[in-house]
Amino acid sequence: PLVPLKPVLDAARAHGYAQGAFNVNAVCQAKAAIEVHEMFRSPVILQGADLANAFMGGRADFANGTVEDKIRGAKNIGDAVRKFGENSPVPVVLHLDHGRDMESVKAAIAGGYTSVMIDGSSLPFDENVELTREVVRYAHERGVSVEGELGVLAGVEDHVFAATSTYTNPLSAVDFVRKTGCDALAISYGTMHGPSKGAGVKLRREIPIAIRECLSHEGLECALVSHGSSTVPRYIVDEINELGGDIQNAHGISLTELKAAIPAGINKINVDTDIRLAVTRNMRELFERRPELRESPSIGGVYDLLAANPSQPDPRAFLPAIYD
Ligand code: G3H
Ligand code: 13P
Ligand code: NA
Ligand code: ZN
Repeated sequence: PLVPLKPVLDAARAHGYAQGAFNVNAVCQAKAAIEVHEMFRSPVILQGADLANAFMGGRADFANGTVEDKIRGAKNIGDAVRKFGENSPVPVVLHLDHGRDMESVKAAIAGGYTSVMIDGSSLPFDENVELTREVVRYAHERGVSVEGELGVLAGVEDHVFAATSTYTNPLSAVDFVRKTGCDALAISYGTMHGPSKGAGVKLRREIPIAIRECLSHEGLECALVSHGSSTVPRYIVDEINELGGDIQNAHGISLTELKAAIPAGINKINVDTDIRLAVTRNMRELFERRPELRESPSIGGVYDLLAANPSQPDPRAFLPAIYD
């Protein structure tokens, strides 16, 4: 069945585990992701980002996607997730990733998303609170969960390029949760988006620990979310480069660090880059065997459209991107 995010993360909080949350940039990925979760008898969190919705709505220049494109894309992915998820034995959440404004949120909900993120992390605190509160009001009335974000991750953050990170201040986080009533909160504690997170990243576990302590002291409940959590598997990067790619400086967050973040209070772990790396490897392999497809507008054209150079992160080119 399709469910909101909140009950899935309530269970994770109550039992001290975390759920992976996986981005889909094409409708066909939803089916595969649901099937894998069924094998593990685990709830599923699928995420479609704002630009991905415009792209899945058939908008080639997705960065210029209109509200209509986003509604069409959200409906395409919503229909697919309903088709495969409605009769699934595991709970399925369809979550908007990095929603940028009220229009994106409304488009996602109209398309059948059961949960939305509103990312106001680039705004001043009070404006972030105001926007998130407005989204909570709209979404909760419709039975839809809300994730907010406080703090800035380094690297590309969808519509925002942040040169450096600003860790989440635990006291501000508590104030934010109290004022907005959000169900989940994305925090900045050392992760970053994309394939170049730096070598040997150590996560600042004391940040989620402090937020969790302060929340419980205030009698507030909110799940904490780790964005930018791809592990960037070396073997996939090597295979892409052997197939003619040029990904330099590829480093993810180690599994050891991610596992240690869970007892520190992280309940949702977002992964997008790892999936796109795997898609990139497989498409390059296909072109190796069937070079004529590279020239076909329908397949090669899609690859051209999706290709992005991670060494020159361009927020607009980045989203439904496949790494070149
Ligand atoms: O965070 C928003 C998008 O999912 C971007 O993720 O850093 O893997 O490109 P990415
Ligand atoms: P990665 O770039 O590490 O996959 O992060 C994904 C993410 O945070 C999606 O919101
Ligand atoms: Na952000
Ligand atoms: Zn993210």
